[in-house]
Amino acid sequence: MSISRRNLLSGLGAGALVIATTATAETLRPTPQETFGPYFPVKTPPTHDFDLTHLPGRSGRALGQLIEVSGRVRRVDGSPVKGATLEIWQANAAGRYAHPMDKNPAPLDPNFQGVALLHANEEGRYRLRTVKPGAYPDPAGGLRTPHIHFDVASEDYRLVAQMYFPGEALNEKDILISTMPGRHRDPALTICKSLPASEPGVLAFEWDIVLLQA
Ligand SMILES: [Fe+2]
Repeated sequence: MSISRRNLLSGLGAGALVIATTATAETLRPTPQETFGPYFPVKTPPTHDFDLTHLPGRSGRALGQLIEVSGRVRRVDGSPVKGATLEIWQANAAGRYAHPMDKNPAPLDPNFQGVALLHANEEGRYRLRTVKPGAYPDPAGGLRTPHIHFDVASEDYRLVAQMYFPGEALNEKDILISTMPGRHRDPALTICKSLPASEPGVLAFEWDIVLLQA
């Protein structure tokens, strides 16, 4: 039996509808999972604090280039992860973690908090004020490129990731980001974007985080 023109057009119409429906649904690529690394904080601040550059009771400011990192936590369908918990930790500007296992001889910074515990807002947005982390020695004799660690949790999903900076020469040789393609991860999803500065002397970056969660 031959297919009538009417049936053919009807079929095309149904197909077009499917395509149109698919095109309107947002599908984001999930942020690649990464290792916690050896310096996961042994102590987390008891309160939410988006500013790592000052410690309670101290008047000094952390050394280094001030930066702000902001972005959204979303699911792959584009919906915001309201109230997502973000635990964030990093080395100071000299490349040293405030962690008992860090044997890097670089100095600690008594005014640097090193860890933040935040919650995303109703739109999944978060914001962090800190200093740009320094590079530090890796166990293989190289240097870890500047990066910030994120542990992001919703009610039923958890992502551990590392955020990198654009234009860093060390990204090319870093033991983790340079090996991502071989581990079936896209490094572009882990590099934040530069934004126009919102205040003098503070570099601004944007990094959106996508949880592999429907
Ligand atoms: Fe690290």
